[in-house]
Amino acid sequence: MKRPIPVYEPLYKLKPIAENIWIVDGDLIEMDAVVTVLPFSTRMTVIKLANSQLWCHSPIAPNEVLYNQLDALGPVAHLISPNKIHYAYIADWKKRYPEAIAWSSPGVEQRAAKQKIPVAFDDQLTDKTPEAWAGQIDQLIFKGSAFIEEAVFFHKASQTLILTDLIENFETEHFPSWLRRKAYKLARIAAPDGQTPIDYRMTFIGHQRQAKECLEKLLAWQSEKIILAHGRCFLENGSAELRRALRWIR
Ligand SMILES: [Fe+2]
Repeated sequence: MKRPIPVYEPLYKLKPIAENIWIVDGDLIEMDAVVTVLPFSTRMTVIKLANSQLWCHSPIAPNEVLYNQLDALGPVAHLISPNKIHYAYIADWKKRYPEAIAWSSPGVEQRAAKQKIPVAFDDQLTDKTPEAWAGQIDQLIFKGSAFIEEAVFFHKASQTLILTDLIENFETEHFPSWLRRKAYKLARIAAPDGQTPIDYRMTFIGHQRQAKECLEKLLAWQSEKIILAHGRCFLENGSAELRRALRWIR
C-alpha cells in the first residue's frame, strides 16, 4: 500500500543521534488537524541513563523487533507521555514492561478517559526534574497554550533538545499530493521552515508572555541538536533553529 506521506525508513530500528541517545522511526498515524484528519510520521527517543536504564520518550507502536533491540540495550524503566496527545501506545509498552514507570503530561489522563483509551500512569511530569534523571536530562512544561502543555526535555551530555509537537518539520517535497504539500505549508509545518502547527499556535493567544518565558529557558539550554516527533530533526545549529521556528512568540 502506498503511504500518503513518506516515513523515515528503516522503521523500528534504533538510530544513534549521539552517545547514549537514539531515535526510532515508526509508521504513520492519523491525527486531527485544523479542518481534517492528517497523516503524521511517528518517532520516539530513547536515552540510556547513567545506571543503564532506558528512558523512552513518546513510545511508538511497538513490535518484537523493537523490543528485542531495547532489551539488548538495557532495562526499559521510564515511559514518557510528553503531551496529552502523545500517549496512545504507553499501555502496550506497560504490558510488556510492567516495572517501567509511566509518566503523565498535563491533561493526558482526562484526554485518555475521554477517548476511552485505558492507560494507568504511575507519576506526573512537572517543572521539577525527577530524581531518576536529574543532572542528565533537564525538563520544563512549556506553558501558554490553553489546550496543550508539552513537557520538553534537554539531554545535557549530547546538548539535544527533545520536542514533540512544539515544532513539526515535514519534508513536503517528497509528498505525492500537491494539495497535501500546500496544506502542510499553510499549517507552517513544512521543512525547512517547520514551526509550531498553526492550530496549536492559535491556542497561545492571550498567553504569549508565559510562552516567551519558556522559550527563554529553552534557549538558555543552548541546544546543538533538536529531535522532533514529526518530520526532519535539526542535527546542528539547534538554538538558531529554535529561534527561527518559534519566532512567532514575541
Ligand atoms: Fe504529535
